[in-house]
Amino acid sequence: MRIAPAAALVGDVAVPGTKSISHRALLFGAIADGVSEIRGVGWSGDLESTANALRALGVHVESNGDEARVQGVGLRGLRAPNGPVDCGNAGTLMRVIGGILAGQEGTFVLTGDESLSSRPMERIAEPLRRMGARVETTDGHAPVTVDGGAPLHPISYELPVASAQVKSCVLLAGLYADDGPTVVVERGSQTRDHTERLLQLMGARVQSSPRQAAVWPAERLKPLALEVPGDFSSAAPLIVAATLLSGSELRIHGVNLNPTRTGLVDVLERMGARIAVFNRRTLAGEPAGDLEVRSAELVATTVSAEEVPSMIDELPLFVLAAGMARGESAVEGAQELRAKESNRIESVTISLRTLGIRVQERHDGFGVRGIPTRPKGGGMASAGDHRLAMLGAVAGLVSRQGVEVEDAEAVAISFPGFFDLLQSVTRR
Ligand code: S3P
Repeated sequence: MRIAPAAALVGDVAVPGTKSISHRALLFGAIADGVSEIRGVGWSGDLESTANALRALGVHVESNGDEARVQGVGLRGLRAPNGPVDCGNAGTLMRVIGGILAGQEGTFVLTGDESLSSRPMERIAEPLRRMGARVETTDGHAPVTVDGGAPLHPISYELPVASAQVKSCVLLAGLYADDGPTVVVERGSQTRDHTERLLQLMGARVQSSPRQAAVWPAERLKPLALEVPGDFSSAAPLIVAATLLSGSELRIHGVNLNPTRTGLVDVLERMGARIAVFNRRTLAGEPAGDLEVRSAELVATTVSAEEVPSMIDELPLFVLAAGMARGESAVEGAQELRAKESNRIESVTISLRTLGIRVQERHDGFGVRGIPTRPKGGGMASAGDHRLAMLGAVAGLVSRQGVEVEDAEAVAISFPGFFDLLQSVTRR
C-alpha cells in the first residue's frame, strides 16, 4: 500500500468500537445469565478470534453489522472442546480468557498465531497458580493449558508488569474464588479499567481505585445491553495526522475518553496540539465525547514511565509526532513495548529511521531529535503488526515522498476500514 503525501485532514468521522471493551463485552456476556446485546462492536480480526473462540466453547454468538448477540451460558457453563481454542493474534483474548477458564470444568488448550506464540504467558499462569489453578505454558508461551475446575482461593497480587490483561485475568478468576476479595495492586499508574467497569455494570461486587482493584466471588452476572464507544487507539492515528498536517480540521465523533486510555491527548497538548472535546457523555459505563483536532506546531517533551500505561499502544505515534516537533524528546519506562505484537521499540525505531525520523532505540524506550519539517518517506514493513501499519500510513501522509507500507493489510486486526476512512478525509 502506497500512502501519498497529504495537505490536510478535513471532515467528520467515527471510528469502530473500542477493541478492549468489545473483547470483554463478548467474553463476559458469554458467562452471564441471559442474552447480551452489544452495539458498536469493533468487528476486526481480533474480535473474530474472540467470537470464534467462544463458539468453540459452546456459546452462541451472532453478529449483524456492528452488533453482537451473545447467549450467556452462566458463570460455569463453558464447555471444553475436543481440540485447541485458537486465539489468532489476540493477546487480550488469550490472557483475559485464562481467568475465566480457570473456573470451568475441563481441560482447555489455548493456541495463537506466530506473533502471539512468541509473547509472554507466564504472567497470567503464575498468579492463577497462586490462586490454586492448574495452568501450564510452553516455555513461558502458548500453547497454554488450563485444567479448570480446581478450587480457587482469593489472592492479593501486586502486578509485576503494568498490564490490564493480567489484571483482568486475575480479577475474573476472583469471581470463582471460594472467598473474597481478590485484589490486584498496581505499582505505577493505573492500567485501563474496562474490566472493572463492565463487571460492575453486570452486578458483580467490584472496588476500583487508581492503586488497586478488588473483585468478590459472584453467583451470577447480569447480561449486558450496551453501545461500545469508538476506540481511542483507532482515533489516535487520525489525531496525530491532523495535528501534523497544517490546515487540518478534523472531528472524530463518539470516542471513548476513559482517562486510563487518553495519555496521548495530554502529551500532545503539552507539546502545543489543539484538541478540543465536545458533547461529553457516558457510553458503556465509560466517559466518551467528540474530538476536534486542528493542526499545530509541536515542541518536544519527555513521556515518563508514569504516563506509559495510559498511552501504551499510542507510543509509536508519539515517536513520529516527536520526530516533527522542535527539540529533543524521549520515552522512558516503556520496556513493555518489546512484548507487543512486535518488539515495538525495535520495529518502530527501524521503520521510522528508514523514513527519515531521527530516533534512537533505548532499552526502555526512545530518544528522538525532532526537526519541524516533513520527513523524506520511503518504504517500511508492518512486520504483521497492525499498529505499525497505521504508523506507516500516518508517516506517508506527513512525508515529502510518501510511504510504501508492506503488509499493510495487518490493519484489519483492529481497524479493517482504516485506509478507506483515512482516504475519505484526506486533502491532497
Ligand atoms: C489491552 C491492554 C494492553 C494493550 C492491548 C490491549 C487490554 O496490553 O497493549 O492492546 O485490552 O487489556 P497489556 O495489558 O499487556 O499492557
